Amino acid sequence: MAKIRNFSIIAHIDHGKSTLADRLLEVTKTVESRKMREQLLDSMDLERERGITIKMQPVRMNYGDYVLNLIDTPGHIDFSYEVSRALKAVEGAILLVDATQGVQAQTFTVLNMANELGLKIIPVINKIDLPSADPVKVRAEIDKLVPGAGERTILVSGKTGEGVSELLETIVAEVPPPHPGEAGKSNRSLVFDFEYSNHRGVIVYIRVLDGRIKKGDELEFAASGQKFVVQELGVFKPGKTPAQELVAGEIGYLVTGIKNPENATVGDTITLAATPLPSVPGYREPAPVVWASVYPVAADDFVLLRQALFRLKLSDSSLSFEEESSGILGHGFRVGFLGMLHLEIITERLRREYNLDLVIASPTTSYELVNQQTNQLELVYSPHRFPAETKDYLVRERWVKVKIIVPATELSGLVKLCHEHEAIIVDTTSWSETRTALDLEMPLRELMRNFFDSVKSVTSGLASLSYELADFRPADVVKLEILVAGEVVPAFTRITSRRRVEQEARQMVARLKELMPRQLIVVKLQAQALSRIIASETLSALRKDVTGYLYGGDVTRKKKLLEKQKKGKKKMQKLGKVNIPSEVFLKMMTQEKRGKE
Ligand code: GTP
Repeated sequence: MAKIRNFSIIAHIDHGKSTLADRLLEVTKTVESRKMREQLLDSMDLERERGITIKMQPVRMNYGDYVLNLIDTPGHIDFSYEVSRALKAVEGAILLVDATQGVQAQTFTVLNMANELGLKIIPVINKIDLPSADPVKVRAEIDKLVPGAGERTILVSGKTGEGVSELLETIVAEVPPPHPGEAGKSNRSLVFDFEYSNHRGVIVYIRVLDGRIKKGDELEFAASGQKFVVQELGVFKPGKTPAQELVAGEIGYLVTGIKNPENATVGDTITLAATPLPSVPGYREPAPVVWASVYPVAADDFVLLRQALFRLKLSDSSLSFEEESSGILGHGFRVGFLGMLHLEIITERLRREYNLDLVIASPTTSYELVNQQTNQLELVYSPHRFPAETKDYLVRERWVKVKIIVPATELSGLVKLCHEHEAIIVDTTSWSETRTALDLEMPLRELMRNFFDSVKSVTSGLASLSYELADFRPADVVKLEILVAGEVVPAFTRITSRRRVEQEARQMVARLKELMPRQLIVVKLQAQALSRIIASETLSALRKDVTGYLYGGDVTRKKKLLEKQKKGKKKMQKLGKVNIPSEVFLKMMTQEKRGKE
């Protein structure tokens, strides 16, 4: 055990974690150079294309007579819970900072997580091969964050491999060996990830904390109570390689044979069923914070969509969904996500991997409604279930803490934007000579209103952001509904702040008027909030030329035909049969995104 080192790489997005991991694999000859390809640990197509890590992939390397276990972590804040659990499985963290960008907002967030767990921090400056690298300045910044970092900060290039050997030496010298854990008859491990195999069921990725695990042991999940017999165990090289046993301090996998993936969740504890040890503290169920409705464009695809969601959930326990139906869109699902990026990734995977044509509607956060009379608490995550009148309720919504790092010259535009998004500026500190750190608190609802994109655009792309979830606070929001030909279209319903409701109502009907194809009848487009119509537009009728084939002066015949057309339209108007094409739903969302930039 004295020869084991477990560590992670933590960084702001794009500072080069995956690339540095590639170099570590190469230098330690874990992967033969002919098999080496870029970002080896990012296995999903989508990850390779977007160059972001969604799912982490652990790997074991041999360095001299040391065993190094690296857990690469997802870079995006949506996945911060996974990062925090992965960090619980290691003793050290490489804090990676881009030499051209310096310390960014997420550098703070991940460093805080690592410090809370008491990990050994190894500060590293990356991308020193770039002409615009400024390691002296960046070193000074890191020195402020990690006291005493100064000369200890290692300079590397994940691209050329410069400095990587020195880094390996430092890992061995500075990261403490794992705690031997409690010896005795039991064992205990932390689940930091899992996958699902059709043949072998749930395969959990674990860090053994106490004791030893052998094939044939009967173990149990602490949270779900599910028991299983270990069918195979082993380590990541980076492919799964069976071993005889796993002992305290090691990182590896267990094949459980469990066919119901619901039983495995990231952060859970696994222990010997006969003599269980207490579970690792800090576990929480993955809780979705953003919800959206997902409908197939072709009604026939509903079954395929259901299958696809169940399949995705096998490897992503944070995904939750329930069936829902909406008059016009037919049957679909209300799906819960960890954040907006998670939403984008899942819907993109549904489109790509399952060839599904989808309509995504009504993304929203959840609201807590406390009935003032009965004191009952209800959680609402579909806008159309939100009450039209809220005077009997205490409404609360999720807030977030946001950190922004920005050049001081760009501050003025940002302050105005913060005001527009109901953000409270809690603190501003001048972080380096030229940059300022801003700490905000704001409703998640406002963050979802393209706050990040807007920040980027008012600061010419120079700001970096990070956020973490905070508490629930009172919300002054109302339900805004859109009516087409007198009927509410639930997919357009949204919850919006009271002070913006009229403006938003006008924008929505105007946009809808632009997007809707004209119908054979006149169609009213209206917005309704607080039990009254607050905006309205009229979509004029498309007049089909029913008299075109008549030539000459047969006026009576012409009149008759037009009369008949009028009657037909009246009838249609009564039935309220209006066709809203699925593109309109899509565009109502995407155009809004563009409009805000
Ligand atoms: P996430 O997985 O999304 O968190 O990103 P990451 O931190 O893993 O960054 P990644 O390794 O994907 O690198 C981001 C970009 O920086 C890629 O285009 C890399 O090719 C580039 N890059 C990484 N390290 C270096 C380096 O040392 N030098 C240069 N010139 N480019 C680098």
